[in-house]
Amino acid sequence: MNQADLETLKHKFSLGRVQFFSSTTSTNDIASSWLANNTGHFSMIVADEQTSGRGRFGRVWYTPPNSSLAVSFILTTGLLPNYLLRYSGLGSLAVCETLSKLGFPEVQIKWPNDILIRGKKVGGVLAEVNWVGNQPNGIILGIGLNITHTSFPKDIQLNYPATYLEAHTSLPVHRMEVLEQIVQAIFKWNEKISKPEFLKAWEMNLAFMNQPIQILFSQKESIEGQLFGLAENGEIVLKLSTGKIIQVNASEINLRPSY
Ligand code: BTN
Repeated sequence: MNQADLETLKHKFSLGRVQFFSSTTSTNDIASSWLANNTGHFSMIVADEQTSGRGRFGRVWYTPPNSSLAVSFILTTGLLPNYLLRYSGLGSLAVCETLSKLGFPEVQIKWPNDILIRGKKVGGVLAEVNWVGNQPNGIILGIGLNITHTSFPKDIQLNYPATYLEAHTSLPVHRMEVLEQIVQAIFKWNEKISKPEFLKAWEMNLAFMNQPIQILFSQKESIEGQLFGLAENGEIVLKLSTGKIIQVNASEINLRPSY
């Protein structure tokens, strides 16, 4: 994977600016600096290695060299200020659809942004909004995928059981092939992001649908209920044991199956 590969994708999909880094801090941080300089819609940054890759809630995201796909997209036009949570869904749905299409088994989304294969986390999406005053002027959609067995350290306590793509196929995984399919899927779903069809597709790929789940707000606070589906704005809808239906948004939440 190199700059020439990204240029080929740029021409195929009419992307904005594209850049490959053999090593950088975080592709989302580069994207943020590009946005400050008015970069074009659908610009894309890819890194072979990230030295300060990050996930949600400031967690560390590991990207050792030659092991992972780390990419950030910048979206600047047609943004939906009232539906910003849908952009986590956009990234998750694009990756989920891509992996299923490439033949990986039991690919699901752990709402809002984790990608699971056979119940283990293979990737994640970090959607960040860049504001000018109270208007979003850009969305940064960062996607990280574990490809080889070296993509995350084995000797550390991870937040959720992890896996990597090559554990689920006997064939080598080509990062460019995966990336191309992701670009295509993001294009497709970004066109439909305001439509019920988008929400339906996101919901259909959710893990734990209609099952009991626990939502952890912090170490001490949690609620349990049945995962009922997605609300219009992308929040999850939960049915409590009292029968009450509530909506929960993504901030400071950790979702786990409760069985
Ligand atoms: C999560 O699981 O919490 C989200 C992980 C997102 C990781 C990707 S890798 C590319 C981009 N750059 C980053 O620093 N983070 C995202």
